[in-house]
Amino acid sequence: MTSHHMRMPVNSRALAVLIDGFVWLLLGTSLSYASVNDITCLRTIQASLEDPLNYLSSSWNFNNGTEGYICKFTGIECWHPDENKVLNIRLSGMELKGEFPVGVSNCTSLTGLDLSNNNIYGTIPSNISKLVGFVTTLDLSSNNLSGEIPVNLSNCSYLNVLKLDSNQLTGQIPAELGLLGRIKTFSVANNRLTGQVPQFGNASIPAENYANNAGLCGAPLPLCRGPPKKTHTGVIVGAAVGGVTLAVLAVLIAMLFCKRRVSKKKKEDDPEGNKWAKSIKGAKGIKAS
Ligand SMILES: *[C@@H]1O[C@H](CO)[C@@H](O)[C@H](O)[C@H]1NC(C)=O
Ligand SMILES: *[C@@H]1O[C@H](CO)[C@@H](O)[C@H](O)[C@H]1NC(C)=O
Ligand SMILES: *[C@@H]1O[C@H](CO)[C@@H](O)[C@H](O)[C@H]1NC(C)=O
Repeated sequence: MTSHHMRMPVNSRALAVLIDGFVWLLLGTSLSYASVNDITCLRTIQASLEDPLNYLSSSWNFNNGTEGYICKFTGIECWHPDENKVLNIRLSGMELKGEFPVGVSNCTSLTGLDLSNNNIYGTIPSNISKLVGFVTTLDLSSNNLSGEIPVNLSNCSYLNVLKLDSNQLTGQIPAELGLLGRIKTFSVANNRLTGQVPQFGNASIPAENYANNAGLCGAPLPLCRGPPKKTHTGVIVGAAVGGVTLAVLAVLIAMLFCKRRVSKKKKEDDPEGNKWAKSIKGAKGIKAS
């Protein structure tokens, strides 16, 4: 009976040790998996960008298996210097060329991405929040980005700093960006943007951060004037349709008037024609009978 009582704690202790081991195994696996992801992340970024001045190729050497070796790479800051987990990527002014490096999504603990002053072209990915969902700083300024600012940026809810100035961005700035509750710095100067600027709840954005665009309006810029575009389009379409209808009517009336005058003239000036017509009628009548 005592032996039976003794066996239970021993068994549960064994179980606890087993569970502990399992938890550590899981944790270890997930940690090393995270590192593998971050190494893949940097490898993919390097592979996707042209590097004419060899900033990356001279520093980003992946032949070193030491834990934390990527933390010494140019532009890379890790959470801990001895752990391959990337905190920030700062690659400003390196003449890097290519599309936005989507491989950055494998740096799953990234809080800052600075690719400013390079030659990044193409559009900002429409699923940007899936790629850098936890960044507090995103600086893509002074590049060659085109197309519209994706509404999905409003899902990067940790953003404090969003710099998109000095690109070739077009269209309207999504009003949803106003939902970014932590934003302190927002700049889209020197693009080709139009329409109403977003209204941020807490931040006050200076007007110069909107300067040199195709036609932005709304505080802190002058208010957007006139009715919204749809009404404008409606009025224009309405006027066009009305104008065309009037023109067609006028032409129809003119044609009718001319026809009448011509036929009247014919009746008056060409009695022969009338006779001829009567003779046909007569012939028809004969034929029918
Ligand atoms: C790996 O990187 C560490 C830290 O930079 C360095 O001390 C070590 O010499 C490197 N080893 C090899 C084989 O490159
Ligand atoms: C992320 O890494 C995995 C392997 O670790 C790879 O298969 C995948 O293509 C990477 N994703 C991107 C966007 O590069
Ligand atoms: C933001 O994320 C939510 C939840 O994942 C999603 O339902 C929504 O469509 C996203 N918004 C945009 C603009 O992508």
